[in-house]
Amino acid sequence: MSILPIIEVPDPRLKTISEPVTEFDDELKTLVDDMFETMYDAPGIGLAAIQVGVPKRILVIDLQEPVEHDHEHGEHCDHEHEVVNDPKVFINPEILDPSSDLNSYNEGCLSVPDQYAEVDRPAAITARWQDVNGKRHEAQIDGMLATCLQHEMDHLEGILFIDHLSRLKRKMVLKKLEKQRKDQGIAA
Ligand code: NI
Repeated sequence: MSILPIIEVPDPRLKTISEPVTEFDDELKTLVDDMFETMYDAPGIGLAAIQVGVPKRILVIDLQEPVEHDHEHGEHCDHEHEVVNDPKVFINPEILDPSSDLNSYNEGCLSVPDQYAEVDRPAAITARWQDVNGKRHEAQIDGMLATCLQHEMDHLEGILFIDHLSRLKRKMVLKKLEKQRKDQGIAA
């Protein structure tokens, strides 16, 4: 497996409309493995293939939720909170009947590093997708996974979370990112 370079704004490749996957072969499995390794290394909870420069309709997501564990009431808890890995692959994903009620999350993106903004999206969706073997799946999805899946699916259409913001807000985010890059340049 290998860690792939993540492309960042304003790289024009991020505006590409990705192509459907038609071959469910070893090359696809290797790319998916590399995408997971790249996402965990970043670290992030979702990655679209175009973010590593591959214009194909492939997403990997792992919300890495903290392990639920019980403590005796009042017991001191000083250990690291572990997370459970829950890798999910979505190939050629589609959204059916998005709910009219919305959820707002403070979103970020590995291609817009260290910048966050509130984005509203349908709170619940029905999704259809294929796995690495080409098998079809359908499920009702809500909560954080619904938000994350919609954010990643936007990448397949060349859309970033900042494209959901007002022009003024988007400019502010890009300015902050530019300043951060300059500061890091000076520090390095
Ligand atoms: Ni993103």
